[in-house]
Amino acid sequence: MKFPYSEKVLEHFKNPKNVGKIDNADGKATEGSPACGDMVSVYISVDPKELTITDIKFESYGCASNIATGSIITELAKGMKLEDAKKISWQQASDALGGLPPVKAHCAVLAIEGLRSAIENYEEKHGLVKEKKPTTMEIVRSRLKKVMNPLSGLDLIRTELVKGIDVSGGIVTVKVDLPSGHQFASNIKEEIDDKIGTLWDVKEVHVEFTD
Ligand code: FES
Repeated sequence: MKFPYSEKVLEHFKNPKNVGKIDNADGKATEGSPACGDMVSVYISVDPKELTITDIKFESYGCASNIATGSIITELAKGMKLEDAKKISWQQASDALGGLPPVKAHCAVLAIEGLRSAIENYEEKHGLVKEKKPTTMEIVRSRLKKVMNPLSGLDLIRTELVKGIDVSGGIVTVKVDLPSGHQFASNIKEEIDDKIGTLWDVKEVHVEFTD
């Protein structure tokens, strides 16, 4: 059987560039893949005048292809304008790696989504979002799909930990099926605040636990 990975993929898998976390990152995101359940986190530092990426790091909880793609996209995106970095496609990343097996395309897509979401997170925090849709329950739900349930490694929606969502007058309330004293409660609250609180028309986020 022919070995499915290029030299370049192996090089980036064995010695990935820009691995780690940026403390106090200007933009950050964690994305999970519906195809395999793996995750990737991307952190960016941004020059607010030029709107360029001055530093970028990633953490992968995925496979070799995901690690290699995370590594190559951080190299491609460093120094780029946010607008240009948003346009990097998984195909471009795959080409820069000398190609990925078709069955591994979703691993590259996951890394690209991590990068785009980290940029989106920066834009939301800085009022740079162009298309301002009013926040609905559906939007909140889709954001909660990006919050991991540390008990299972899957998201809060898929693991049915969210028992209710209310959106009214800029206040979003999320009911979580855990006691407030649970070891992961504060972590989950922080993640929810992070994902929902940056939406342009959200003034407050209330996370209610079961007690
Ligand atoms: Fe999950 Fe590659 S198989 S990221």
